[in-house]
Amino acid sequence: MTDTKPILILGGTGKTGRRLAERLTARGIPVRIGSRSGTPRFDWEAPASWAPALEGVSAVYISYYPDIAVPGAAEVVDAFARLAVEHGIRRLVLLSGRGEHEAQRAEEMLKASGADWTILRCAWFSQNFSEGFLVEPLLAGEVALPVGPVGEPFVDVDDIADAAEAVLTEPGHVGQLYELTGPRLLSFADAVGEIAKAAGRDIRFVRITHDEFTAAVATHELPPEIVWLLDELFTKVLDGRNESLTDGVQRVLGRAPKDFSAYATETAASRIWSN
Ligand SMILES: NC(=O)c1ccc[n+]([C@@H]2O[C@H](COP(=O)([O-])OP(=O)(O)OC[C@H]3O[C@@H](n4cnc5c(N)ncnc54)[C@H](OP(=O)(O)O)[C@@H]3O)[C@@H](O)[C@H]2O)c1
Repeated sequence: MTDTKPILILGGTGKTGRRLAERLTARGIPVRIGSRSGTPRFDWEAPASWAPALEGVSAVYISYYPDIAVPGAAEVVDAFARLAVEHGIRRLVLLSGRGEHEAQRAEEMLKASGADWTILRCAWFSQNFSEGFLVEPLLAGEVALPVGPVGEPFVDVDDIADAAEAVLTEPGHVGQLYELTGPRLLSFADAVGEIAKAAGRDIRFVRITHDEFTAAVATHELPPEIVWLLDELFTKVLDGRNESLTDGVQRVLGRAPKDFSAYATETAASRIWSN
């Protein structure tokens, strides 16, 4: 008999989870969305909501919120993974981040949880420019960040969703860590330049100081963990430690990753960056 148990997709309405849900659904594989808007509701901040979401699923895609780099994220992911294994759900796929102490701690804990694990350790998502906090400054015509010419191999979330689909539906991926990057290193100035060109607009990139960035972030009344995260990402993680390309997309999917210019051109056509 065919296994018709759903796959639980945490963050199933977010950047990677939504795309993974679409892919699995298109193949006739049932999915359960694990988020505060899912049924049953799943909330990282309410551990009592975890077990009902795990009931009767075959595997879990774990996308932590707000970010796996936030201190304490590893313990929460660990507690969730152990609960899943206790419920007999061993197949766990973790969305992780590169060069982040807390993310790498979460990976080690997942490996020790008794799960049949796969880790997708990802570079910065290209879609942060179109589905995240960078949309607003792009629309305003100026992106001001405390980051210099360091190269980041932005990865397209469509490639991440394709990889997640593959590892959840094909044999041979248990116990594998795939580092997923795009095919090219771009500075933030380069990325904004490509977006400006694709959108046919004048959009400036300005490098600001750490103090100017802190002051700008403070005007937005963001939750403290997001303020901490932005500081950590822009002033610590973007120090060159991730300035390298990997073959993860090629290894999982047998094809090259999507280039940032293709992302910029396709996304500009949706007019998200047009005012
Ligand atoms: N963005 C990047 O460049 C990047 C790079 C590498 C790794 N990552 C990792 O990817 C993960 C997702 O990041 P993202 O930026 O792409 O976010 P995202 O998936 O777009 O985040 C939104 C998702 O989180 C859900 N959510 C929000 N609050 C929640 C809560 N309290 N409990 C359960 N679900 C909740 C939302 O659904 P509801 O609103 O319905 O709850 C939605 O599905 C993070 O762990 C991050 O560290 C991100």
